Amino acid sequence: MDKKKMTLAELQRKKTQGEKITMLTAYDYPSARLVDEAGIDVILVGDSLGMVVLGYDSTVPVTMDEMIHHCKAVYRAVKSSFIIGDMPFMSYHASITQAIENAGRFIKEARCDAVKLEGGSEMAPVVKAIVKAGIPVCAHIGLTPQTATMLSGFKVQGKNADSARKQVRSAKDLEEAGAFMIVMECIPDLVAARITGELTIPTIGIGAGKDCDGQVLVYHDLVGLFERFTPKFVKQYVNLSPLIKEALIRYKSDVEAATFPGLEHTFSIAPEEASKI
Ligand code: KIV
Repeated sequence: MDKKKMTLAELQRKKTQGEKITMLTAYDYPSARLVDEAGIDVILVGDSLGMVVLGYDSTVPVTMDEMIHHCKAVYRAVKSSFIIGDMPFMSYHASITQAIENAGRFIKEARCDAVKLEGGSEMAPVVKAIVKAGIPVCAHIGLTPQTATMLSGFKVQGKNADSARKQVRSAKDLEEAGAFMIVMECIPDLVAARITGELTIPTIGIGAGKDCDGQVLVYHDLVGLFERFTPKFVKQYVNLSPLIKEALIRYKSDVEAATFPGLEHTFSIAPEEASKI
């Protein structure tokens, strides 16, 4: 029997009843199909696609049109996972109107179920306005890659008492603003556990320890398709890159040796028809 479509209420029930939430990124039809069929609760069409799919050196250059294009492909593949579209850098910073309009594109054009945006307490008014427009918002605190320069690089956040208190404050402000879930990236496990205990909405960790209500990883990291660097928090479950490369090399040598295509890959014409050509 087909798994039922994941809902906000079901995600909240999982938090309340202590069942872990699973989340993974996907950016296209084939990856989204596999993630959905694996029964993952939430698919994040993350702006990480800029690095792992589009070859940018950070998430900063990713545009709204690129995000919408990939979210549409994911939507076509998914039957049950809840789909979150990641708002790219500068698509929600200029004004509340800009934020609502762009969040609306994820829902109307790309058919996402919700949007995600990065930032702490300072983003609470934006979250509030988008939620008021009827669009569910997932927040993202800790290491926020879009503004990594402001954080002086890709560093763990909340490592001293002041900075940890700031993360707790942000999480509470974002919950208060109406976020339905919070991603916590690169936060010490004790701080993430404290936030998870104090919030009523689910927390999803990436480099935030095991006590979050759920976990998220980037698809390409998990399956070994991104080789530029591997953060400490990644667990690679399979290393596909060498397997794929090996298959490509075999294809090249088969073509060069004329052992591909074989008869089984070839269409034929009856000799009497061929003789009339
Ligand atoms: O863009 C992304 O994939 C993300 C996750 C790392 C949480 O924001």
